[in-house]
Amino acid sequence: NGFHPTGGGKLPFEAIAPVERTVDAMTVPSGYDWAAIIRWGDPLFDDSPEFDLENQTGASQAKQFGYNSDYLDVFSDGGNDRTGFLVNSHEYTNENIMFSPEYRKSNPQDVIEAAIEAHGLSIVDLKRGGKGQKWEYVRGGRRNRRITGSTLFTVDGPAAGSDLLKTKDDTTGTKVLGTLNNCAGGTTPWGTVLSGEENFDQYFVGTGAPEQTRIGISPGPTSRRWETVDPRFNLNTEGYANEANRFGWIVEIDPEDPRSTPVKHTALGRFKHEAGTAVISRDGHAVVYSGDDQAHDYVYKFVSKQKYRKGDKKHNMTLLSEGTLYVAQYSGNSPASEIDGTGAVPSDGDFDGWGRWIPLVKNDKSLVPDMTVDEVLVNTRLAGDKVGATKMDRPEDMETNPVTGKIYLALTNNSGRTLDGVDEANPVAKADGGNRDGHVIEMIERRGDHASERFNWNILLLAGDPAKSDSVYFSGFPADQVSPISCPDNLAFDSEGNLWVSTDGQPGKIGYSDALHKVSLEGRNRGRVEQFLAVPADAETCGPVIHDQDNSVFVAVQHPGEGGDWGAHTSYFPDFVPEGPLKGDRVAVPRPAVVQVFSTTGNNG
Ligand code: FEO
Ligand code: CA
Ligand code: CA
Ligand code: CA
Repeated sequence: NGFHPTGGGKLPFEAIAPVERTVDAMTVPSGYDWAAIIRWGDPLFDDSPEFDLENQTGASQAKQFGYNSDYLDVFSDGGNDRTGFLVNSHEYTNENIMFSPEYRKSNPQDVIEAAIEAHGLSIVDLKRGGKGQKWEYVRGGRRNRRITGSTLFTVDGPAAGSDLLKTKDDTTGTKVLGTLNNCAGGTTPWGTVLSGEENFDQYFVGTGAPEQTRIGISPGPTSRRWETVDPRFNLNTEGYANEANRFGWIVEIDPEDPRSTPVKHTALGRFKHEAGTAVISRDGHAVVYSGDDQAHDYVYKFVSKQKYRKGDKKHNMTLLSEGTLYVAQYSGNSPASEIDGTGAVPSDGDFDGWGRWIPLVKNDKSLVPDMTVDEVLVNTRLAGDKVGATKMDRPEDMETNPVTGKIYLALTNNSGRTLDGVDEANPVAKADGGNRDGHVIEMIERRGDHASERFNWNILLLAGDPAKSDSVYFSGFPADQVSPISCPDNLAFDSEGNLWVSTDGQPGKIGYSDALHKVSLEGRNRGRVEQFLAVPADAETCGPVIHDQDNSVFVAVQHPGEGGDWGAHTSYFPDFVPEGPLKGDRVAVPRPAVVQVFSTTGNNG
């Protein structure tokens, strides 16, 4: 079938065959098994109510694990293989498969309040018997915490206190209740977690103002109807015109201090942040990469003014408060005539070129004509529009390779990419769907310096099912020897610097369930894609964490059964009890969950 075991590596596996989209199972390679560590509704605290779908409220959900798990990291405590913790974000909710129609009708306010509390993040203590074993979550663990759509955040950076951030509840413009649509994120070198507030537009009733239109906020009732319970979600309400300006930021959380107040960093700009990947530059500045996940939107990076101090967490937690915010411009080195939309490789042998980081804000000064620093940071897309940033095919995760320092950017797809809009960095525009399957770009900062204002780039792969698409490209690796892949989303690395790519949307594009793939980057196997797992029906694979030296891979299984409805569920992951109860430990609905995949042979160390 064209699939071969990988040579060497600390997590050897034979690629699995792609799984048909309706299969409701976790599929893992031979020699591996899986277990859910924690699921939506699991009680986090000693006094948490039992999970009970017929009595779920804001108060109960605030003490339970949230919904639609996305960004994930898993930590073991230093030098200790028996205790640790995880951090997981909860991007959004699917009320139609979370609650029965009867409950939604009889308890509309409880449903909305539970949904608000099911957003945000969870921090959860873990324990196990020893290295290579399965983690279990610790109810009542000392670090356990829920951060939700109503948790108090402080705002810092140049736009903190701006008139653009003030509401009648917060006349200082520095205190916000809640974080929403937390998508991908990152762990900083100083041990905090960054989380991107992504599609926050959907929660607000707009006024029709142009800056709202540019970010996707429109007038008229939202589908979630939160505005009926809390007037701050309607920007037409007296005193709340700026409420939406208080979302769309990178937030920073200290997971080891459950009493700390999380922060929204205005210095990193406001857009639909996917990811927040922090790395220290050669001369000690903190650099954060983040994409704006929308068709034809931009890629950004932030470079701190101050320098990182090893071991000084208090100081390092101020690094993202001041610095330079840049937006990316990609230039190709092949003639425009050779970029014909088909995915045909240009005559110089590569989709490649150089790029420029264009500064938008330096410290507290705007570098964008006719925009104040507050305006640039709050309406960052408008600033990118003015300076000629490159319009990309939906920037999702962006991660730095810990072994090589190269940067990888997942561009998930763009149905709106047309032939007259292609460029060498976004070269696919098919008549039947633009860039349907997405691609992955590799970026190398000049002189290997993450603070550089120039970079080189090339396309690692153009995704697709080689059996059905002629626009696929895998850096020259034979297309008949790779796993089909579509809609790259989250990225991670193993200890040897191989890239792992999770997908969101394969079912609708190539008919197979969403997946986690390993992609070799260096040497003769560069571009080789090997599928490691498939998630259950209608789910997306999120937050991969590759602990190859611990025989384990972790994923967050997001929105299992999303295409179904109450009473017509398409998934019962991970409990798989279709006839089960609606309260207690195993219930008859799909539950987003954090999963550990582990070697059953233990031969990987
Ligand atoms: Fe939340 Fe762009 O995925
Ligand atoms: Ca080229
Ligand atoms: Ca994503
Ligand atoms: Ca996505």
